[in-house]
Amino acid sequence: MTETTAMQCTPAISKMIDWQQAMKTTKQTIGFVPTMGFLHEGHAELIKEAKKNNDRVAVSIFVNPAQFGPGEDFEEYPRNLDADIRLASQAGADIVFCPGVEDMYPTDGGIRIVPGPLADRLCGASRPGHFDGVLKVVLKLVNIVQPDTVYFGMKDAQQLAIIETFFRDYNCPAVIVRVPTVREMDGLAKSSRNVNLSVQERNEAPVIYEALQQAELLVKEGGSLEGITQFVENTLREKTSGAVDYVSILTYPQLEEPTAVSQDLIIACAVQFSKARLIDNIIFKREG
Ligand code: PAJ
Repeated sequence: MTETTAMQCTPAISKMIDWQQAMKTTKQTIGFVPTMGFLHEGHAELIKEAKKNNDRVAVSIFVNPAQFGPGEDFEEYPRNLDADIRLASQAGADIVFCPGVEDMYPTDGGIRIVPGPLADRLCGASRPGHFDGVLKVVLKLVNIVQPDTVYFGMKDAQQLAIIETFFRDYNCPAVIVRVPTVREMDGLAKSSRNVNLSVQERNEAPVIYEALQQAELLVKEGGSLEGITQFVENTLREKTSGAVDYVSILTYPQLEEPTAVSQDLIIACAVQFSKARLIDNIIFKREG
């Protein structure tokens, strides 16, 4: 049993390391939930999952400039640290680590982490360099926090596949846990970016998950993947005012063109609304 103490919050890397070392000294396990803040029930689910299976839970809140491209929504990305601290504490976090950009990226020695072909498709194709920035910050964060287990949401399925591959190939010792997507009542995947939808766009957005669910059924009935992809694309074009960035059916987590019926598949899409780019996916088995 671990005793309950008031949640801590620190922007200082040195304080985060002190905390993590104190946990190791007292043989307490650390579950870690990296986030960009503006926390919602999806993030809360990750924190609760971490709380269930670890002595202590650390949550990071850092809107990571390295994963935003020129012209993307780094400035508009919603922020509310006070509300985040409350939500993290209620969900069971023991410490919130909220570093500043200057502390995380004081100098640039020019070394880059390149995610390779897994980042060439889906979101990576339209957001060049995005996953380089994700890997950069995740590696820095896990080096600082030294968690036993790290929790990621399946809503960002490509991110998860790339991070899992990175950890495996580079012997990062932390275990990764996948957490299923948490949705609004109408099916829309919860996202920090949903607040940047207009009222009309918010009304349209549930079509994304509806179309993906229909596609899953059609795939399981043996329909042509090309035709189903086209069907989803047409539905999104007709029923939303957003621009369809991509709709794609690939194997998961390899993100390759499907060849056999036994493979796990992902059907994923991205829709660009006026101020928010939404992504969603369903991962499923074609058979059974
Ligand atoms: P962010 O978008 O804040 O998401 C933090 C974590 O919460 C990610 O693992 C994401 O997949 C998960 N998450 C978001 N919405 C979810 C939902 N509706 N259901 C379940 N999980 C959900 O992803 C990032 O931040 C960043 O790229 C990060 C990994 C922190 C690196 O900067």
